[in-house]
Amino acid sequence: MTIGFLDSGLGGLSVLAEALKRLPDQDFLYMADTLHVPYGTKTKEEVRSYILEVVETMMAEGLDALVVACNTATSIAIAELRELYSIPIVGMEPAVKPAVEMNRATGKRVLVFATPLTLQMPKYYALVSRVDEGGIVDSLPLPELVRYCEALQFDKRVLGDYFREKLAPYGLDRYGIVVLGCTHYPFYKGILRDILPPHIRIVDGNAGTVRRLVALLTRYGIPRGGGTGSVRFMCSSGDAAYVDKMQTALALYRQELLEDE
Ligand code: DGL
Repeated sequence: MTIGFLDSGLGGLSVLAEALKRLPDQDFLYMADTLHVPYGTKTKEEVRSYILEVVETMMAEGLDALVVACNTATSIAIAELRELYSIPIVGMEPAVKPAVEMNRATGKRVLVFATPLTLQMPKYYALVSRVDEGGIVDSLPLPELVRYCEALQFDKRVLGDYFREKLAPYGLDRYGIVVLGCTHYPFYKGILRDILPPHIRIVDGNAGTVRRLVALLTRYGIPRGGGTGSVRFMCSSGDAAYVDKMQTALALYRQELLEDE
């Protein structure tokens, strides 16, 4: 059986890396919508049509489950995809709820990083309104980080300067948690760790997403195992060089995960 992963580009690999850890005996198909990356600075109508097209291509390959490994795509199209297809579909949203809960005891604020489009969507507004009773959640769009990631730019000095500039207006002592609400951002966890004061926790939704995937496979009675942890890479532009890039980025991220443990 094959589990599909979709993102605009390399970001969803950070979720796939978690899945490979948890489900080493499944096979995976990873699709990057390279014709349209980035999603986060486009309109919701544009992004909706890209997603429907790219998911149709993926489905033609024969999927048993789909992970929309992109917060932006989830906020725009997850409901529609679930109406269109009967396989289990897992989406992602910024981990605001667990962050607010974790922070309750500290009295500190929560800072959510995500794409401009995710932060503009009613789904995000509804999520924050539902869980943020104390008005402690602030949001910061970081579209440049997606571009850095797509260029495999992981230079500590370049990124350090970038984060310091973006975070300058925030009194970081007031914050207890940073939420990475875009799947490209966990690639920068290590660099962020060095920039943020040590009391700030950094959370992403990747492990939670894979837990939901496992639960859904069980609920749908989809037999697990039988695969080899193979990953087939596809991209909408059909660019072979990008397939190499995906392999490099996945290896890099898996290495970081190992070092993190
Ligand atoms: N990785 C995506 C997300 O989780 C989108 C990045 C982009 O294409 O702007 O939101």
